[in-house]
Amino acid sequence: MPNYTFNVNGQSVDVDAPADLALLWVLRDKLGITGPKYGCGVNVCKACTCLVDGQAVQTCATRVSAVQGKAVTTIEGLANGDTLHPVQQAWLDIDVAQCGFCQPGQIMAAVDLLKRTSNPTDADIDAIENICRCGTYGRIRQAIKAAAARMSGYQVSERGDASSVMGSPT
Ligand code: FES
Ligand code: FES
Repeated sequence: MPNYTFNVNGQSVDVDAPADLALLWVLRDKLGITGPKYGCGVNVCKACTCLVDGQAVQTCATRVSAVQGKAVTTIEGLANGDTLHPVQQAWLDIDVAQCGFCQPGQIMAAVDLLKRTSNPTDADIDAIENICRCGTYGRIRQAIKAAAARMSGYQVSERGDASSVMGSPT
């Protein structure tokens, strides 16, 4: 079986896996990283969203062979030690989650959006395709706007994590 080496949440990992095995199953079943969720398996629901080299991807539709040598960030790797990523903190402040199942993917999609657009419009936020069967879209929109305000004092690295460049976030 081929061997693949890549980085997950700041740590190098070696995985023996068929080349076409979905990254989602490598993360969940081989590495025990269960933040990325299995919803549809066909690149529709986006519950499996993670970052690869800083960009959002759907891990159910990404072969492990495609991440050889790359950096994968899951929801587990967003916080900086005990300091939550500003998006995570905004999610808590606004109490976004209902059942919670879609929320890791929603947060990773929001991190990706805020890396591309520091002050997203409603239309930018509505363009996120992650599905929430509990209908938390209104609170997601609020949280992304709150995170954007928080992140005016942050830089987001390629790993997707945040470090303060202007002191404590407001
Ligand atoms: S599990 Fe639905 S898009 Fe990946
Ligand atoms: S919070 Fe339940 S599916 Fe989104």
